Order: sequence, then C-alpha cells, then structure tokens
Amino acid sequence: MKRTHHCGQLRASDIEQNVTLCGWANVVRDQSYQLFIDLRDRSGIVQIVIDRELSPELFAQMTSVKSEYCLQVDGTVRARIAGKENPRLQTGAIEVQASQIRVLNTSKALPFEIEDDVRADENVRLQYRYLDLRRRPMRDILELRHKIVKATRDFLDSEDFWEIETPLLWKSTPEGAREYVVPTRSGDARSFVLPQSPQIAKQLLMVGGVEKYFQIARCFRDESARSDRQPEFTQIDIEMSFVEQDDVLAQTERLFAYIMRTCKNLEIPIPFPRLSYEESMRRYGSDKPDTRFGLEFVDLSDIAHESGFKVFADAVSSGGQVKAICAPDCADYSRKQIDELTEIAKRFGARGLATFALLDEVKSPIAKFFSPDQMQTIFTRCGAKKGDLVLVVADNPNVVAQSLDFLRRAMAKRLGLIDADKFNFLWIVDTPMFEYSNEESRFDAMHHPFCLPNPDDMHLLDEGFTSDIPKSSAAHPWAQVRAWLYDLVLNGNEIGGGSIRIYQRELQEKMFAALGMDAAEQQHKFGFLLGAFEYGAPPHGGIAFGFDRLCAILGGSESIRDFIAFPKNNSGRDVMLDAPSTIDAKQFEELQIKLI
Ligand code: AMO
Ligand code: AMP
Repeated sequence: MKRTHHCGQLRASDIEQNVTLCGWANVVRDQSYQLFIDLRDRSGIVQIVIDRELSPELFAQMTSVKSEYCLQVDGTVRARIAGKENPRLQTGAIEVQASQIRVLNTSKALPFEIEDDVRADENVRLQYRYLDLRRRPMRDILELRHKIVKATRDFLDSEDFWEIETPLLWKSTPEGAREYVVPTRSGDARSFVLPQSPQIAKQLLMVGGVEKYFQIARCFRDESARSDRQPEFTQIDIEMSFVEQDDVLAQTERLFAYIMRTCKNLEIPIPFPRLSYEESMRRYGSDKPDTRFGLEFVDLSDIAHESGFKVFADAVSSGGQVKAICAPDCADYSRKQIDELTEIAKRFGARGLATFALLDEVKSPIAKFFSPDQMQTIFTRCGAKKGDLVLVVADNPNVVAQSLDFLRRAMAKRLGLIDADKFNFLWIVDTPMFEYSNEESRFDAMHHPFCLPNPDDMHLLDEGFTSDIPKSSAAHPWAQVRAWLYDLVLNGNEIGGGSIRIYQRELQEKMFAALGMDAAEQQHKFGFLLGAFEYGAPPHGGIAFGFDRLCAILGGSESIRDFIAFPKNNSGRDVMLDAPSTIDAKQFEELQIKLI
C-alpha cells in the first residue's frame, strides 16, 4: 500500500496517528524554520509541516519541491497550534508532521495555476486538460456526473430496464444531422457511419422483445459546436414497448424525481407541467421556454392593425404579428440602452424595436400614432405599471418569436429575475410532425421520421399527398399534423426529446414518402427497419436525454464543455490531442481513398 489515508479525510480524531499520504504539492511555503506543503489528493487538502530543527536533512531536501510535484509523505498527525487553525479546510484543525517524504515525480512550471477560479484561456485549459481536471471545481463536476449516471442506472434497474449496448459502427440512416463517416477497406467506398443516436437500434430491440431498454449512449453529430452542443455527446436513451405517451412521461418524471433527490437533495414536484407547442410559441416565442420568470409575450396585433403606425399595420396585414414584453422598472432606460436592445432585436432580423415608457406620461417615439384608449389597452394588456417599459416587435411570426425570446431572456438576466436555485421541468407536447424547409422546398420531420402522428390527424397525412395548397403555406395539411412527440425542458434548455413510434410498415413508408423519399431510397436506407416491422413489431415509444446538458444545468454551468472530461473546443477540435489530425498515407491507401 502506498498510502494509509486520503489527505482530505484526516480529522482531530486522528491526532497521534502515523500516516502515509500520497498526492500533489498544491502550495509550498518556506518560512525559514518550517516548510509547509499543502498536499492535495482527490479527497481534499491537508497541511504537511517539516520542522527545520527536528528534521534538518528532510528540510534541506524539500526546499526544492515545487507546485504539483507528486509526493509520498510519512508523518504523524498533530493538532495545529492554537490560532493557526484553518476553518476553510475540512482538515483545518490538524497538520501532518512529516518524518519522510519521497518525490514520486517532479513537475515542470505550470501553464496555469491549479486553483478554483479559472483565469486561463479555455483553449489552454483544454490543451492541458489533465491539469485542468486537478482543479477542485472540475473534480466536483466529474463526481456529480458520476453520481447522476449512477442514479440513472440504479433507478432504471429498479424499474426493470435492461442496459444494452448498440453498435457504434452503424449504417447511414439520416436523422437530421450530418453523419461522421467511417470508411472501410472494402475497396468500393462502402462506409460505416457513427450513429447520431441509437434510435433505430433501440426500436429493433423492441421488435426483439426486450420491452424495457436503456443505455448511456454515445452519439455523434457533425455539426458546429456551441455552448450546449458537442460533436460527440452522451444520451440517457430509453425505449419501452406497449406504452402510450403518458406512460413515457410518467416514467421520465419518476426518473428525474429520483435523480434530483439523490444527486441534489431536492424534492421536485411531479407531474411536470405540460404546454402545447402552440401555446409555448405563443407565450414565449420558443419551444424551450425558461419558466423561472415571467415577461411573457403579449399580443398587440389587433391594436397595432388599427393604429396609425404604418409599420405595425402593414406587418399585421401581411400575415405578421405585433408582440410585446413588459420590462419592470425600466422606463428610465436611456437612449443608449434602448439602442442596445434594438441592436439585439435586429440580430434576429427585426427591423426595429418600438418602446413605450410608462412615466407620468407615456414616452414613446411612436406615441402619436395611438389614441389614448389604444395606449391604455396596450398597458392594461401588458400588465404595465408606472415605471415599466414595453418593448414591441412587429414582423413575421418567426422574427417576432426569435427576437423577443432573446430579449425576454436577456432582460431577465439584466434584471436579476432568474432564481438560480430553481429547477423548472416542463413538457412541450402536441408538437407538429413536420416543419417546412425553405431551403429544400419540402417538409422535414420536426424530430425524426419515426414519430407516430396523432391518430386524430392521420387523415391530414393522407390529404397532404394530393393537396393543391402550396407546401410552403401554413394551411397545407402536413403543416397541421401533430405527432405523439414530447420534449423535456429544464430552465430554458431542451434536455430531452422522444416520441411514440410508428411500428407498421405501411405507415412508415407513407411517412418516408411525405419526407420526399422514393421507394428505392427507402429500401436502400431503411429496408431493414421496414422489414422488421413485418414480423409482429410491438407498439413502442421512448425518449433520450442530453446527459451532458443535464449535468451542466444541475451543476450550474452554461457550457457543457465543462461537464465532459475531454471535450472538443468551440471549433470542434480536441486541442489536447491536436485532433482531427492527418493520418498516414498508407492508411488512406488501404482504404483506397485518394485526396483531391
Ligand atoms: P434528440 O436529437 O432530440 O433525440 O436528442 C436528445 C437530446 O440530446 C441532446 N443533444 C445534444 N447534446 C449535446 N450535444 C449535441 N450535439 C446534442 N444534440 C442533442 C439534447 C436533446 O434533447 N433518438 C432521439 C430520441 C428519441 O426519439 O427517443 C434523439 O436523439 O438534450
Ligand atoms: P421609424 O419610423 O423607422 O423612425 O421607426 C419608429 C420607431 O419604430 C423606432 O423606434 C423603430 O425602432 C420602431 N420600429 C421600426 N420598425 C419596427 C418593427 N418592425 N417592429 C417594432 N418596432 C419598429
């Protein structure tokens, strides 16, 4: 045994014990008569003392020890002298008087200090991730992540789910994102791809009679990294047979109640509130609203339509909207502050931002276009009181939603309306099956092509094939098909999504056809799935949670990079490995790949 105790474990009850410890020199302080080393291992820090008089040789030898030297220390626990206790350390009542110290390894000068506050640039931290991970907050993150994954496994096991691994070498079966391709030595450009999710594999497990499956699954999507996205990420993936939407939602709620209880010591109320997609878009302009604060959208389209302000009236006449949010106690915002907010709105395509400040009288660049009655209605509808500022955007529904949603969140942050200790779970349900793609001039699946349309809307799916209404129109039957599709939202982040699935060949073929896939393409890409549906496939459904995102939110961070041991940076590179990197010409040759 190289050690008898962990550094952070030692307490006053250990006084007079002989101990052997291993760890890193966190801080070394030379005070001419005594040398202090804060020795750190995963469990915490303890102070090591070397007395010059008692051990002159050891003292001389240890004056060369620097930060992050890896040490093995033999010594005796003793009480710190009165007044020298350190209440900030759990071991602060004691110290270890060293009798012998072995340097297990030395360390070069560090690229950044191993301290709680990060001062180093993120790319430097990522390049030396093995040093970054030594910092206390990173250690806490890894522990939290472990606890959440363990709670997930314990809970799902207790409810009879089986953890089953599915292949990483998979077939190109597009679900929405760009795939990572894995060439093989077949010589005819045949390739595997890395799965975007275990979606089809888990459905095949249901055909295989597994009934209750889960996996802590690695997923790969070749899309640009953002603070809440990584090209390689982890899902808690779940699928169940013989279930309806309510079963999956209830199962999820129990899982999260358990995770929150065991990992955060919090009782969260279940069932979670449910919002329809339509209502969420109407009230928040987003399908993942943060409900920890108000600032809900107020529709002013009718008043705007009748007003004398042409921009507003025209927006409504041409099918657009005029919507507002009311910022409390912001009526005294300066010209400069309002210009700043306008710039934010413009980033999302808004052509302007109108404001009404409710002071002793109304202050607004467009006040003259509204009658006193209209003005009164605006303030009443917004619930504005004296001192408030009403922010208004007029545009097409997309621009209004995106710009006001961002402003809503930005204002909540500025005004300190967000309670960081709150965890608001929320379901978004009754989501449309399809989403029209302007780029491709056809409908895409809002989630993926395997979602079961709501039986009440099945006729719309049929009608869509022969409808004369242009596909780009919101009146097209397919634009109105709702799916048994649900998203789980936590504090304004989409942390999970799933659906009840199609399990009959004919309906799946119809769905692929609606998405513009002809029979040959269906057979080539999904023939195996369609085939499986012909052998008594059971009704089934499931959900997947973004595990990294979940950890980040529970850990109070905005970036999922902090919650992944070895993440890619925001340009999608691993700067520690310097990857992706070039590979040997010989490897390309074997794969019969020529670079052009
Ligand atoms: P979906 O694509 O919605 O569904 O993914 C599920 C959840 O995974 C998280 N997520 C990501 N996290 C980090 N980086 C990414 N690039 C990333 N992309 C997605 C999100 C998301 O809610 N197979 C379906 C699930 C199902 O239908 O059962 C699926 O993958 O939190
Ligand atoms: P203008 O007529 O361009 O001087 O604009 C008068 C006010 O209306 C300014 O405060 C603009 O920012 C605002 N405004 C202009 N276009 C819009 C719009 N589409 N939505 C909301 N406000 C707008």
